[in-house]
Amino acid sequence: MKIPSSIWTLLIGIVLTLVSLWYGQNHGLLPTAASDEAVLIDGLFSAMLTVSIGIFLLVEGILIYAAFKYRRRADDNDDGPPIEGNVPLEILWTAIPAIIVIGISIYSFDVYNEMGGFNPHAVHEAPIMEESMAMPGTAIAATLSDTPPNTEANLNQEKSDESMQDPATAAVRNQEMPQMRNAPGVGSVAPTLGASREKEGQPPQLVVNVSALQYAWIFTYPDTGVTTGELHIPVGQQVQMNMTANDVIHAFWVPEFRLKQDVIPGRQTEISLTPRKIGTYTLICAELCGPYHGAMQTQVVVESQEAFDSWMQEQLVASKENLNQAVAINPSDLSADEFLAPYTKNMGIHAEMVHQVHH
Ligand code: CUA
Repeated sequence: MKIPSSIWTLLIGIVLTLVSLWYGQNHGLLPTAASDEAVLIDGLFSAMLTVSIGIFLLVEGILIYAAFKYRRRADDNDDGPPIEGNVPLEILWTAIPAIIVIGISIYSFDVYNEMGGFNPHAVHEAPIMEESMAMPGTAIAATLSDTPPNTEANLNQEKSDESMQDPATAAVRNQEMPQMRNAPGVGSVAPTLGASREKEGQPPQLVVNVSALQYAWIFTYPDTGVTTGELHIPVGQQVQMNMTANDVIHAFWVPEFRLKQDVIPGRQTEISLTPRKIGTYTLICAELCGPYHGAMQTQVVVESQEAFDSWMQEQLVASKENLNQAVAINPSDLSADEFLAPYTKNMGIHAEMVHQVHH
């Protein structure tokens, strides 16, 4: 019995669709999706991959089939039949890609919008930093000169330290950081990327000021004044990063968050996201910014609210400790742990913890 070609076409179509759908969901090409935004991006990526795989298999399948079926036979020396255009076919193969491209653009625009892309709330005046929030340079230097707890030697931290000690950039660091002053006329900033729709219009739950410089990232938490070389954020909370650069253009990129935003000297850009998976990720500078661009990386730690709170307390203790040592009000031979005991007791922090912070 001969199976008619329409049945064959239908069967092949079904198999192609199933294979494409399966591969689109099981490609495993992307790293962990660690933010709510990453889930949206991955949905778009998978849809595009599904369509691409379908087209790839169809085109390559027909090519291989035709190359085999219509190959030149040993005794065949004729020219091929002269075939002129086929208008319905040409309309079809113009219309199908057009529909696919329009579909993908609508989908990707929707994802962009969902992340606050054209949300008018996202473009607003640069925040006015109150006098009390602007930290004196000594406090920044003091905090930075302490290695963050539970990490080994951190190159980013070292670079931060170095750059914060550099007298050449003192003025820039303390007065001319756009995020530290009102910027009339410049007020409008790049659109915020990453706010989920259901959170639109609500203030972010956590704000972090990010400064990028050759070749380090510096994070300041305005609520506590803590400044660090690695980014800690609590899971499940929307966090907004207000970013600026001290020297040249850098770019904030965490592959697991699927978001990237330029960090530009003289203006503020923002990125906001909601981390959804606890873990340690790598923040990578994604803009060629100089000879050590490739080394401009640091850790992003997404942790539970409790872990975040206790980390913040450790940072506060560390900065206090350094400040106290800096102004030499520790005349006796007390160790740091003993000296800090009265402070840490109030904060519910154990001496061992301080000891770890200290080293
Ligand atoms: Cu900073 Cu590349």
